[in-house]
Amino acid sequence: ESKSLSVEHRLEEICTILKENIAYYDWVGFYFKNGDKDELKLSSYAGAPTDHTIIPFGKGICGQVAVSNENFVVPDVKAQDNYIACSITVKAEIVVPLFVNGENIGQIDIDSNTANPFTDADERFLEWVNEQVAEILN
Ligand code: SME
Repeated sequence: ESKSLSVEHRLEEICTILKENIAYYDWVGFYFKNGDKDELKLSSYAGAPTDHTIIPFGKGICGQVAVSNENFVVPDVKAQDNYIACSITVKAEIVVPLFVNGENIGQIDIDSNTANPFTDADERFLEWVNEQVAEILN
């Protein structure tokens, strides 16, 4: 369907712009709720391909954000028990939920190869990015 292709293309451009302009953003992707299933599905991304294209709610950082509706900043992935490793080079992760009409419909997920790089400024910035994406999706 042409509308969804266009949305995916725009999301891919957002991922690429973020990855290429912020030195410590090494993988940037959007996951969305997969239909009426209690799982996330990978949409557009920039960075290395991942095997984790489907993530059940509650599993990993992404799956936890799907149910908590809250930002999740992981300064050191080795210190997390409920974590799904996508690459051995990743040291830190941030996941920010994406709301459309107040509903948590997905998230932006960023992996960093730098230890403890994410600050409040990243959270505020990524919340803003997600608000722009919500308007594209709405
Ligand atoms: N690390 C994530 C899985 C997705 S990959 O980072 C792309 C998690 O624990 O949910």
